[in-house]
Amino acid sequence: MALNLEAKFPRKQLAFWPSPIHKLERLSQELGVEVWAKRDDISSGLAFGGNKVRKLEWLAADALAQGCDTLVSIGNIQSNHTRQVAAVAAVLGMKCRLVQEEWTKWEDPAYDKVGNILLSRLMGASTVLEGEGYSTEVKETWQRALDEVRREGGKPYAIPAGASDHPLGGLGYAHFADEVAAQEEQMGVFFDTVITATCTGSTQAGMVVGFGAQDRKRRLIGIDTACNEAMTRAAVTKIARATAELIGLNREIRDEEIIIDPRFAGPDYGLPDEETIAGIRAAASLEAMLTDPVYEGKSIAGLIAMAKKGEFPKGSKILYVHLGGAPALNAYHNAFH
Ligand SMILES: Cc1ncc(COP(=O)(O)O)c(C=O)c1O
Repeated sequence: MALNLEAKFPRKQLAFWPSPIHKLERLSQELGVEVWAKRDDISSGLAFGGNKVRKLEWLAADALAQGCDTLVSIGNIQSNHTRQVAAVAAVLGMKCRLVQEEWTKWEDPAYDKVGNILLSRLMGASTVLEGEGYSTEVKETWQRALDEVRREGGKPYAIPAGASDHPLGGLGYAHFADEVAAQEEQMGVFFDTVITATCTGSTQAGMVVGFGAQDRKRRLIGIDTACNEAMTRAAVTKIARATAELIGLNREIRDEEIIIDPRFAGPDYGLPDEETIAGIRAAASLEAMLTDPVYEGKSIAGLIAMAKKGEFPKGSKILYVHLGGAPALNAYHNAFH
């Protein structure tokens, strides 16, 4: 069943849809399984795009309807999410205040100057560097930023980390499932396995709901990048159930629909291991497909490892969902020495 969410919820289109799907020929040959990529990393003209643009289309419509003038969000210093919030604010003519916390200890004097944070500043966002530690909890630093905007006479729109724990956070990737199904019909293929990176949860949660509404079942695997399987599972479950209710799915999301693989998360959030780096090199050298050490490097490493261990059934068609993240690469140059 198609969800047709556009008919039910306002959406401000900010990207070029559908994002392309193409076969990863050389990687498929190397692994002996059929791997395709859905490229949400290149589906937008907004500062290198990524998965947050897809989610923010629904939040932006809400912010505009409420007459807000400032987008306020939070993330790591090299957050892709906050860079995409800055981009959305820029094209909508809004102000933007970003709390950039230190979620990971990355020793590089340029870490808070290049990559995503540089782009956010270029787009006019004010960046406040304070707070530390990754968590899906509501942060005091973010509340303070919202209060400051109010004190200055502005009308803030609050966007949580990853645009995830928000009533509309799951809509983008629930709608994504309709988009995939339409492309499959057009291309005459069916992807029985979908691989996505997962962290703050609404990307996977939306997909759980969207794919869960379809007649033909497939396996959706979230590769944990938070290095905290329990926290990621709790976030995905909460958002999936709230999204299912919001859109009137008319059934409970079952625990077993939420598959989270913790094996490829590396030593911690934001820190790659050798397998992550090897995955990044493989995707780059075989496909010129750029992935990052925080998110997609881990999900591509997971896909490669699973294929090598024979974990995909024979004849599988695997869809790797590329969610962006490459703008952070320069900030992690010393991971590749
Ligand atoms: C490039 C990239 N991939 C994957 C994710 C994970 O998505 P989510 O936070 O919705 O679980 C993020 C953001 O956190 C991201 O920026």
